[in-house]
Amino acid sequence: MSLSEIETAYDDAGSGPAVLLLHGFPFDRSMWREQIDFLSAQGWRAIATDLRGLGETKYSGDVTTMEDMARDVAALMDDLEIDRAAVCGLSMGSYVAFEFARLFPARVRALVLAGARAQGADEAERKSREDKAQDVLNDGISPFVEAMLPDLLAPKTLAEKPVVVARVREMILRTDPRGAAAAQRGMAARRDYSADLADVSVPTLIIAGREDVIRKPDDAELIHRGIAKSVLAVIDDAGHLMNMEQPEVFNRMVVNFLRLIH
Ligand code: MLT
Repeated sequence: MSLSEIETAYDDAGSGPAVLLLHGFPFDRSMWREQIDFLSAQGWRAIATDLRGLGETKYSGDVTTMEDMARDVAALMDDLEIDRAAVCGLSMGSYVAFEFARLFPARVRALVLAGARAQGADEAERKSREDKAQDVLNDGISPFVEAMLPDLLAPKTLAEKPVVVARVREMILRTDPRGAAAAQRGMAARRDYSADLADVSVPTLIIAGREDVIRKPDDAELIHRGIAKSVLAVIDDAGHLMNMEQPEVFNRMVVNFLRLIH
């Protein structure tokens, strides 16, 4: 019996200490395929959820806040009888991870923040997100996909990894426009998490893609300065979707970090 008002779609693989994987926007849990396979083979229980309104987790509300998503994750942990987990979020997933750590600090064993940003949205960002929400509701997501790809992936990925490019394209095309619009509004309304960084007391790994133009390595630096027990790693030839672009490097970093704390 779930405490959540929605039914969360998820993958749950392996056994051992739990690692929760929170995807970015406008994506779904399939972006973590290589991490689920690797972590579960290396002695962790990897759980990847589709956040509210995205992937196979249906939701038809107008706004999905980061708090809604964090509470859904807590409800899923209750259902799966997991008290505490390492929480790994990429980009929007990092906002949800920040929110989760604020609301449920005792349930966080460690944080992995990839392509993350702590600062909240300013007026210009809020307006741009509302415009994008309207656009996707009016026109669907397909007109925007090709323009998004060069920002999401490093030049080397675009040139040399057609399978990754195709996976990202398909993942975006599967996104429900209502879910995308609701998440845009939720991200527009997100907290300024930089105010919370000093309260994060768990070991934290911050990962940046050197070529990420959406969440630049400077954003990662700021988080690193704010969280006392944090380490920062930068992945070469990786953009915003660094875990898909350089999965071997990303997986090794995460597992080495998790081994130190378990
Ligand atoms: C993401 O990848 O989750 C998005 O870039 C997040 C955002 O729009 O801030």
